[in-house]
Amino acid sequence: MPDIRVTVDGVRYDDQVEARRLLVHHLRRLGKVGTPVGCDTSNCGACTVLMDGVSVKSCTVLAVQADGSRISTVEGMAADGAWHPLQTAFHRRHALQCGYCTPGMLMAASDLLQDNPDPTEAEVREGLEGNLCRCTGYANIVAAVLDAAAEMRADGPAAAQAPAGRTPVGGGAA
Ligand code: FES
Ligand code: FES
Repeated sequence: MPDIRVTVDGVRYDDQVEARRLLVHHLRRLGKVGTPVGCDTSNCGACTVLMDGVSVKSCTVLAVQADGSRISTVEGMAADGAWHPLQTAFHRRHALQCGYCTPGMLMAASDLLQDNPDPTEAEVREGLEGNLCRCTGYANIVAAVLDAAAEMRADGPAAAQAPAGRTPVGGGAA
């Protein structure tokens, strides 16, 4: 079985994996169960994580393809006990119902706001078009992303970079 080395939320993991294992299943085996499997067919976006700062649906990536990469999941969003502005805005706007789509929405939104810190409502909707909410909570989700964008612009570049731009802290399995 191939050896892979992946840094997840700042912690490095060295493992042997089956060549066919999907990244989302690998993350969950590492205990990162905050990243759910929604459909397994690349449709829902619930499994979205950042791979080297870019959002990917982790059910469409083989674990071996992530070898050497830096993965950010929803579990690494909060820093030093403080929620990311997107998490705060989702809470304030009640931008979730069952919550199943929420990790993927948060990760996709963080990628969107890195690329476009001042999106229009239409741009937020386009940026999240790969993420489905079966509870149809889109209005509040879009409002929350716009709120977070405004807050992150007011807070400056440091807020805009979290979580994808955070420096890995090392440690873990290696
Ligand atoms: S579980 Fe990956 S897109 Fe649905
Ligand atoms: S909150 Fe239920 S799927 Fe989005």
